[in-house]
Amino acid sequence: MRKKKPLIFAHRGVSSKCPENTLSAFRKAIEIGADGIELDVHRSRDGKLVVCHDETVDRTTNGKGVIQEMTAKELSLLDAGGWFGVAFQEERIPLLEEVLNLLQPTTLLLNIELKTDYFFYPGIEEETYALVRKYGMEDRVILSSFNHHTVLRFQRIAPKVLTGILYSCHLYEPHKYAASLGVKALHPPMHLAPHEIIAEAHEAGLLVHGWFSRERFDVARARGYLDSGVDILITNYPEEYLALRDKG
Ligand code: G3P
Ligand code: MG
Repeated sequence: MRKKKPLIFAHRGVSSKCPENTLSAFRKAIEIGADGIELDVHRSRDGKLVVCHDETVDRTTNGKGVIQEMTAKELSLLDAGGWFGVAFQEERIPLLEEVLNLLQPTTLLLNIELKTDYFFYPGIEEETYALVRKYGMEDRVILSSFNHHTVLRFQRIAPKVLTGILYSCHLYEPHKYAASLGVKALHPPMHLAPHEIIAEAHEAGLLVHGWFSRERFDVARARGYLDSGVDILITNYPEEYLALRDKG
């Protein structure tokens, strides 16, 4: 039986062509016709939800510092694109609200990853859900985190929103674990998503949303991932995957 092809999500926006987690990376995802985007969320000292991968701004901006010790105003002054290329020097660290505002009029789905891995940002689940509701995007959001306490808290306050558990270790019978938590999706890296794991998850009524760690694009491998049976592929190379998926 021919498997359904996955939806293609732009990981941190189209991060192979634009600086990750910036509005230009998200606009690019809209422009190329991606099915959705994935982004990462932290919280500033003054309680704003901001889109950035790391706990600090050191790697992806011209500044230095820990996000939770900086105000949104301080964060907004940083150049979040120059490290990627001079054409992107005007890029700023976006607020989650700015991204919701950008996506709301489109048809794109949004995977919000709450980065509560090191700092727990108490209350971030309620704050995120409040923003999602403000933009009426409850049925277009997938909420994930490596911190499964966060996922469960979110699920409790927003039972209708699709939730998934991120992991990057060889979980034993992840479908049973996910079912025990009541979440709807597994979010494994693709190297931990062999056929049996995907099949068992589907049999248990779960979705599988795969992503890549240290991704390189290779056509033959990409075809394999497109045929793997996963429901969503979260990739730095969405344009390449869309071309392969839709034109063969
Ligand atoms: O959500 C998939 C992926 O983004 C998880 O890893 O480190 O890229 O946020 P990371
Ligand atoms: Mg992420």
